[in-house]
Amino acid sequence: MQREALRLRRQGKKIVLVPTMGALHEGHLSLARLARKCGDVVVVSIYVNPIQFGPKEDFAKYPRPFAKDRRLAISAGVDIIFAPKNLYAGDASTTISESFFSQGRCGAFRAGHFDGVTTVVAKLFNIVQPDVAIFGQKDAQQCDVLERMARDLNFPVRIVRAPIIRDENGVARSSRNAYLSAAEYQVAVHFAKTLKSAGSVAEAKRKLGKVPGLRLQYVEAANGQLCAAVFVGKTRLIDNVPLKK
Ligand code: PAF
Repeated sequence: MQREALRLRRQGKKIVLVPTMGALHEGHLSLARLARKCGDVVVVSIYVNPIQFGPKEDFAKYPRPFAKDRRLAISAGVDIIFAPKNLYAGDASTTISESFFSQGRCGAFRAGHFDGVTTVVAKLFNIVQPDVAIFGQKDAQQCDVLERMARDLNFPVRIVRAPIIRDENGVARSSRNAYLSAAEYQVAVHFAKTLKSAGSVAEAKRKLGKVPGLRLQYVEAANGQLCAAVFVGKTRLIDNVPLKK
């Protein structure tokens, strides 16, 4: 991939990267379609990055429907699918750590998660050599962390945040929605509506605390967003909306 990226760059091609962990859905496809408008060659990476999962998280059961992903990526106009089997040497001993935006929100509950994200994304930047990289705003904290990393480490990459894509009932698209039963999905609808209607952290906490079938993990205001994580059954969902002024 790196050889091909360097060859493309020598030809003056502008590379746009959409990093994913696969299980592609409409949210990812909207990123790929946006990528088409931002450069000449669209690369989607598909890699379920082991080091961003905690020991009790869903790394083993994370969906990996590669044939379907390949079809969807091609239909969205992707030029290259980069799907490595493994990205880490057995004795890898270097990680990247961002220490401001990674605190609080998901960082308070997922120890080491953002170090895993920054490390793999830095590796993807070095391998794919993108001019532009696109990330979804659904993972608002991830966007904050990665923008800061790119700035602090002088990666010559423009980071684009793409808006959250929601389904017809307002639920933010996520690969983890596939885990939800029909009843749990209704709770996810309630989660999205309640967060949208809340004007402050206190109001969101109060309202979300009353939604049956939902266990609140956190509500926090950060970088202009009202962010929340909840459990619906065993599935952890995150969402965010702009903070009301
Ligand atoms: O958002 C994701 O899917 C992942 O965190 C990412 C950015 C692909 C890194 O593994």
